Amino acid sequence: MPSFDQNKAYAPQEEGTNFFDDGREIELLHYIYSHPDIDTIRGSPKEVLAAIDEYGRTKKYLMNVGEDKGRIVTDLIAEVELGGYVGYSCILFGDAVRKAGGERYYSLEMNPEFAAVIMSLVDLAGLSEVVKVVVGSSDASIARLYDAGLLKHIDLMFLDHYKPAYTTDLKLCEELKLITPGSVMAADNVIKPGNPPYLEYVRSSVQQKKQKGLEDEKAGKSEGIPDKTVNQYAKRYGQLKFNTSKGNPSLVYESKLNMSFEPTGVPDGVEITRCVGEEK
Ligand SMILES: C[S@@+](CC[C@H](N)C(=O)[O-])C[C@H]1O[C@@H](n2cnc3c(N)ncnc32)[C@H](O)[C@@H]1O
Repeated sequence: MPSFDQNKAYAPQEEGTNFFDDGREIELLHYIYSHPDIDTIRGSPKEVLAAIDEYGRTKKYLMNVGEDKGRIVTDLIAEVELGGYVGYSCILFGDAVRKAGGERYYSLEMNPEFAAVIMSLVDLAGLSEVVKVVVGSSDASIARLYDAGLLKHIDLMFLDHYKPAYTTDLKLCEELKLITPGSVMAADNVIKPGNPPYLEYVRSSVQQKKQKGLEDEKAGKSEGIPDKTVNQYAKRYGQLKFNTSKGNPSLVYESKLNMSFEPTGVPDGVEITRCVGEEK
């Protein structure tokens, strides 16, 4: 049994250093495939998640949604996620979709190496029939899935990627009419690191959205997001171009924060937003 070192596993990131994408995601694959319990892990989403958790606890921090916050979304049954990382949320929610009789769960991941890790662990968990991993930036992938007729409507979308893209991707989905009354969005990390522009958008009334000209806001704006966060993302991914969709400000949202915890024990929140109507 590996020794547990909370400080090592969850040591705060030093300024300018990556606490992921340093090879740990591939190391995770070796850890799981050489696990003494690999035979029980094979074919079991629950055991694959437990093995990912074990690595995150005892070896190195992984930026997974985790069990506590994950439960908020599992209850809702997601079908598209933006940001897959090593596949934790994808396996958790993909399994929930399968149990509910759903056919497809799309995981949109920009980093091809992370996408390869997701695919490997999804296969190990026996979920390849349900989960499809799409490599590329989320907006381009949404547009491609839409154009191919594979994504016609979104019942539930889990947003857990580049924070400034939460709002721009939501607007793209609105414009493509993927979001309609009944659609639900679950947005992670709205407390830590926080996402004020997204919260403002989904909590605004139609009138407020129109008045403030939010529908004219140029995509890519990152006001309200700390420079540190923007710079960290830029260092990892380079400056991303944003989709500039105006969205559909006439959609009426009801939005509520659900407080929970990061796997590290740090409090964080998932914002659950329901589209409840459309004003004409
Ligand atoms: C916080 S992690 C996702 C964690 C995952 N949802 C989980 O809980 O297991 C964020 C992921 O989003 C990906 N990402 C960042 N910007 C993206 C974009 N524009 N499109 C798609 N993926 C993106 C990153 O490569 C990273 O793997």
